Amino acid sequence: MSAVSAYDLPLPVLETAGLERAEALAAFRLARAEHWLARTPMGFMLVDYRDAVAVLRDRRFHSALSLIPEMAGLEPDSYLQNRRRSILAMEGDEHARLRRLVAPAFTPAAADRLRPFMREVVSSLVDAVVGQGRCELVADICEPYPIPIICELLGAPKEDWKLFSQWATDIFRIFNQNLAVDLPAIQRASGELEAYVLSMVEERRTNPSDDLLSSLIAIEEAGDRLSSDELVMLAEAVLMAGTDTTRNQLACSVALLSEHPDQWALLAEHPELAPRAVEETMRYLGAVRGTARVASVDIEYRDVLFPAGTIVSVALAGANMDPEVFTAPDTFDITSERDALQMTFGSGIHFCMGAALARAELQEALPLLARRMPDLAPDGPVEWKPSTFGIWGPARLPLRFGSPAD
Ligand code: HEM
Repeated sequence: MSAVSAYDLPLPVLETAGLERAEALAAFRLARAEHWLARTPMGFMLVDYRDAVAVLRDRRFHSALSLIPEMAGLEPDSYLQNRRRSILAMEGDEHARLRRLVAPAFTPAAADRLRPFMREVVSSLVDAVVGQGRCELVADICEPYPIPIICELLGAPKEDWKLFSQWATDIFRIFNQNLAVDLPAIQRASGELEAYVLSMVEERRTNPSDDLLSSLIAIEEAGDRLSSDELVMLAEAVLMAGTDTTRNQLACSVALLSEHPDQWALLAEHPELAPRAVEETMRYLGAVRGTARVASVDIEYRDVLFPAGTIVSVALAGANMDPEVFTAPDTFDITSERDALQMTFGSGIHFCMGAALARAELQEALPLLARRMPDLAPDGPVEWKPSTFGIWGPARLPLRFGSPAD
């Protein structure tokens, strides 16, 4: 093999844990000036758009999600090592089969059906604060927003929203880098969710309804069907992947727009700008700033050898600011038509399955908030979550605003 091993190359070192967003972007720029590849404490990192897309589309690079328990130092026989594998961690034919089977349930048309319900949920959350002229956006709007949508999607009754919210919070602890302490809560929540979904599956098998679980149960392709186990895994994946991401992205998007009052006003006046506003805020300030892959075999890419087992992080936030792909990447402009898709939903076979739903949720929320919260301004400092969080955004976003015209 002629390629040089990545481990033998003199590469810039990137240590982004603990860095503020602006510092991380500056570190990406410096590293990029030296080499397209950087060293990290875990392995290597890609910060350019084209490399990010190429590696995420290269099926020899597998999701590194299944390595989380190992990286946290958990024993191989621990609960997390043995739990049902998520779609996020599957590869090859097994993954392709599932994606093919569930694809019809996650189309833009399927997401569009929930738009009136999304507007209803955001409106009622705004109603509760609009008279006060101020709110803490994360607790008042973002946190409660996605759970009812996911419940409505799955077909769970209203009175159970709080249960789902607690399960999501507890299961998300997987990403908080404190597994030794958090494991019992994760295990309990996951067990309760599983029992709940299993009983829903039983009920829907005899009493189908107009919801995701019923359509997943009904899906059949050439005699192939989803098992109860797969249905539980998918419900958990949707709850896990679809709540904290959306609420953090909404908070990131509003935080950013609050720094650009002219664009907030424009969005209120022109709600048809919502799709572009969503793409541009996700590009500029994405709630998922990176993901990771592991080389499943020895891989040669751009004349560099990545030996099997090498971890390669993909800086989605870096790719979103790549000047080779986005003209004036530092300019935030919701009216601009960008030449490339933003990367915050990932790329390749694991590209976000809920992208259409997330887009619809954000496209409904942003113009509605802009219209009902005019003259938006900070009402104190924004508190950001620690930068080590895989799904990131404001922990607190205090805002004040004027009275809506209507
Ligand atoms: C703004 C909100 C969201 C963002 C930023 C986001 C981001 C992402 C990213 C980056 C990935 C790929 C991870 C990787 O390649 O390692 C992903 C996968 C996934 N997302 Fe989302 N997501 C969002 C909302 C949602 C919603 C609402 C749902 C559910 C309805 C969802 C369900 C999923 C699932 C199931 C996967 C795994 C797909 C697979 O592995 O094949 N996401 N998401």
